[in-house]
Amino acid sequence: MSIILHADCAFEQIVVKDPRGHDVILVQHGGVIHGYRNSCPHVGVPLDWGDGRCMHGADHLICSMHGALFEAATGLCVDGPCTGDHLQRIAVRVEAGRVVCD
Ligand code: FES
Repeated sequence: MSIILHADCAFEQIVVKDPRGHDVILVQHGGVIHGYRNSCPHVGVPLDWGDGRCMHGADHLICSMHGALFEAATGLCVDGPCTGDHLQRIAVRVEAGRVVCD
């Protein structure tokens, strides 16, 4: 059964709640929507300051706490205190114009 995370695809990057109440980062990159758990692998805090925004330029996400930079397309940390670690990927897809997960 599919769970709707967001009702449309008209965003660059947003944070939504999954059915268990966890924050999920949705980011569009290269025409693909990627989903990641909103938890920095450094110390486990949300990447954003509570405003749902963590996009940094066109290709990266940034953690507001200590500035770790993550590739939007892979979740790989490429700079900062957790370089080499990954954001936890959440499998998402688009169905009928909505972002869904299982
Ligand atoms: S908590 Fe994210 S970089 Fe330190």
